[in-house]
Amino acid sequence: MNQTSRPLIKLFPLIAGLLVTVVLLVGLVAGLLYFDHVGLQPTQMQVSEALPALAEHKPTALMDPVGMWVAPDWGTVDSAPNAEVIKYGRELIANTAEYLGPNGKVRKISNGLNCQNCHLQAGTVPLGNNYSAAKSTYPKVRGRSGKSEDIQLRINGCFQRSLNGEALPNDSKEMIAIVAYMDWLGKDVPKGEKPKGAGIYELPFLDRAADPVKGKTIYERQCVTCHMTDGQGVIKPDSSGYIYPPLWGEHSYNQGAGLFRMSRFAGYVKANMPFGATYENPMLTDEEAWDVAAYVNSLDRPKRDFPNDWPDISKKPIDHPFGPYADEFSEEQHKFGPFQAIKVEAKQ
Ligand code: HEC
Ligand code: HEC
Repeated sequence: MNQTSRPLIKLFPLIAGLLVTVVLLVGLVAGLLYFDHVGLQPTQMQVSEALPALAEHKPTALMDPVGMWVAPDWGTVDSAPNAEVIKYGRELIANTAEYLGPNGKVRKISNGLNCQNCHLQAGTVPLGNNYSAAKSTYPKVRGRSGKSEDIQLRINGCFQRSLNGEALPNDSKEMIAIVAYMDWLGKDVPKGEKPKGAGIYELPFLDRAADPVKGKTIYERQCVTCHMTDGQGVIKPDSSGYIYPPLWGEHSYNQGAGLFRMSRFAGYVKANMPFGATYENPMLTDEEAWDVAAYVNSLDRPKRDFPNDWPDISKKPIDHPFGPYADEFSEEQHKFGPFQAIKVEAKQ
């Protein structure tokens, strides 16, 4: 062996050691970057927290997307002669509280919810309680009022019940704009037709009553991250509306509202909640949706009498939670089910 190769051989372990250290450091930095990135997305974290249950039961798509109603392309709105009115209408649906809420800059006539909290993406989402059938099916005779309702009366139904507020005058700039927006959304739907995916999903009945106790567990697992333990949601820092809307209590919809009926609540939630669920990727099983509806609708919310509702009691929907009824089933069963027997008797 000559003199120069000896120090080189001695260096080998040192070089190997250095290499291992570099690899470890790169790994550590990559790991830190990854967690930093994930940690920066709170909403994603909340949605994914709800996911473990998904893997257990994997609910399947609620409807075939073929033939589903699609809203007109918003990018084409400017070709409408009344584009500015339509745009104001959409703005009122999306940010109702800012204009018409408790601190509304136009009127103070509603509870802080936005129409869009329940009519998702300004009423354009399939099975997201959309407005696709508003133009084509109104005016129509409805059992609740017992008379022909025009679209303005129906809109005011939601102002007085879902937004626990006051009616908008028919000739107000705001009512005119909301109607113009709904007419534009439904402009391609033939008169009298209800497009596929309109309104709320009809969730199959359970063969038992919906159970608020089971529902509480589901609420705590799947809803609490956004709607909060006390159900009051999260208000925007400037109080102009909610980031996450309340589900019960004095700022929520009242007992005369559609969502206070179990089938409306459960069907809406099945296709749209936890936020991020869609009709193609629902996250709750049918049982979970019914039970969480039972829990939320068992808690306190504003009471409001509408003495002229249901002049013909035989027209009450089977899940209308207040008697008197045209049948012998109890108020309790009309509220929580099981509904099948009531349906058979009512032939609805
Ligand atoms: C708390 C939830 C909620 C809010 C907020 C809400 N709605 Fe509704 N809305 C409903 C429910 C539930 C229905 C009934 C859907 C069904 O039975 O299929 C409905 C139905 C309607 C309909 C009838 C649609 C049809 O095709 O028959 C119109 C129009 C409407 N809402 C307008 C509005 C407007 C305008 C606002 C805001 C001022 C609003 N809604 C806010 C829950 C809500
Ligand atoms: C990741 C957050 C998140 C989770 C989790 C979540 N929601 Fe929501 N929820 C929202 C948001 C946001 C809205 C309003 C949607 C909008 O304005 O676009 C909403 C709206 C609603 C509404 C209609 C508005 C109202 O205030 O009445 C109901 C009902 C509802 N959620 C029920 C539930 C239920 C039940 C669960 C659990 C199964 C749930 N949500 C889980 C974010 C969430």
